[in-house]
Amino acid sequence: METVTSAFEKIKGLPLHSRTPLEWGEEVLKQPVELLIDHAFLEKKAANNAMELMTRWPDEWLPGWVETMTSVAKDEAAHLAQVTRMLFKRGGRLARGHKSDYANSLRQLVRRGEAPEVLDRLFVSALIELRSCERFAILSVASTKDEELAVFYKGLFASELTHYKVFLKLAYKIAPKPKVDARWYHMLAAEAEILARQEKGPRIHSGM
Ligand SMILES: [Fe+2]
Ligand SMILES: [Fe+2]
Repeated sequence: METVTSAFEKIKGLPLHSRTPLEWGEEVLKQPVELLIDHAFLEKKAANNAMELMTRWPDEWLPGWVETMTSVAKDEAAHLAQVTRMLFKRGGRLARGHKSDYANSLRQLVRRGEAPEVLDRLFVSALIELRSCERFAILSVASTKDEELAVFYKGLFASELTHYKVFLKLAYKIAPKPKVDARWYHMLAAEAEILARQEKGPRIHSGM
């Protein structure tokens, strides 16, 4: 239980502009299977996103770009396998399609033009990782009656925390610090507004 508490402590230091209350976790965990179905799609999309970034800018940006994106894609595919295992074990099935207003709205923040686009796409990736990281920490703490889920969410919290840092670090490598700082602050504020507009329900990025 001590490690779960430390996840809860760690999220206090995250730069998010809004905080998810424990009650959100307690509420969405009333429908754990629906939550896992939504979650599976997020992991799939995270893997797709890393794969797409890898080939979109394969060599002109940074040494290590391809290796980083490949490594993230591999982690996300492993998460997808974990989530689907948990889902099937609990009698659920994957749905055919999935819509996420949260992710779509974040993507609309991406500016056109090569340099702004790559920076913004790194930010959007970092934001999704960051919010997911917070939500998994909340879920690990809220899963009081289900030790298996608590451990599962705790592991994902740690992995998404690493991914968030990876994307943000890349952003700081491709543009001057004051410019990155300003844009990152703007994106964090926009993320909180987008999240606040989301409907409630058993989804990882649902409203509170
Ligand atoms: Fe993931
Ligand atoms: Fe991730």
